[in-house]
Amino acid sequence: MGAIYLADDNRLEGRRCAIKETQPLPGLSQGTAQAMRDQFHQEASILARLDHPNLPKVSDYFSEGDRDYLVMDYVPGPDLHQMAADARRHGRFLDENTVVPWGAQLCDALTYLHHQTPPMLHRDVKPANIKLTPEGRIKLVDFGLVKPLDPDDPKTLTSLHGVGSLPYTPLEQYVDELGHTDPRSDLYALGATLYHLLTGQEPPSAQARFLDPNLLILPRQINPAISPEVEAAVLSALALHPHERPTSVQEWQATLTGQSGPPAAAASPPTPETSAGVHTVWLPILRQNLWLIGIALVLLIVALALTFGPIPSH
Ligand SMILES: Nc1ncnc2c1ncn2[C@@H]1O[C@H](COP(=O)(O)OP(=O)(O)O)[C@@H](O)[C@H]1O
Ligand SMILES: [Mg+2]
Repeated sequence: MGAIYLADDNRLEGRRCAIKETQPLPGLSQGTAQAMRDQFHQEASILARLDHPNLPKVSDYFSEGDRDYLVMDYVPGPDLHQMAADARRHGRFLDENTVVPWGAQLCDALTYLHHQTPPMLHRDVKPANIKLTPEGRIKLVDFGLVKPLDPDDPKTLTSLHGVGSLPYTPLEQYVDELGHTDPRSDLYALGATLYHLLTGQEPPSAQARFLDPNLLILPRQINPAISPEVEAAVLSALALHPHERPTSVQEWQATLTGQSGPPAAAASPPTPETSAGVHTVWLPILRQNLWLIGIALVLLIVALALTFGPIPSH
């Protein structure tokens, strides 16, 4: 849907920038195209205010014809998808002592985004969207899905932007409009990214894991050089239910880098036996998880359809 150009700045001589061009999806109504443009301008002005060493600086934005443009720093160097592919081609794994500090820099960038007012979610963390500069600094690029987390924000445009890339997308992001995405959704994508970098292979999608919980191969079974602590941190970020993940990227960073105890599992719900009223305990849990039950039903129907063939028509 777009292109990235390497451009020279005509006024600030010697400055090179990257310009991201996006064009509207074909077949959009005029009203929807205008609404998306308004959203682009609103979000670009938010991005231009961000300033963090692990994010490219957005310096300008404009529209021309039916296309929108975002001007930002050009980040030299390979992206981490290329780095992982190169290592795999040479039959080796990326070293944990290299990958964990990259992970820590990504935690810094995400924590910065999550602490904006309103909090911003990146929503598309994956190796192809992470660059490594010749100085060894990580830059998280691709603001295509970045979105302020605003409960009053109309969520209707989200579906037009897509959900992200399957192996890195948490379950709750498939049903973004239900409002269950939060900073822990970026944490899932970060866990999936580290899984890929440490094992040389993408994790199975959350959708596939939901249907077959044994699908995820433990990182140390693929690469025994990974330490048990780092494996535990990666798996805690990859918990299918957001409530089972650490509560923030910042908290998770401490376990990843070994600056705290083992990853804190989120408090498990009280069992009905130990609680006074069964209804008061289970009803809120059921209500909280309705979206998950919805996904389960849809996935079950898809699985049945795939297993037993098309449903006969009457
Ligand atoms: N600021 C930048 N500087 C240098 N390269 C970039 C920059 N932003 C993106 N890229 C490169 O261009 C690729 C595509 O850009 P991205 O913003 O991820 O677009 P898309 O939405 O098509 O994934 C990225 O994977 C990255 O390699
Ligand atoms: Mg991208």
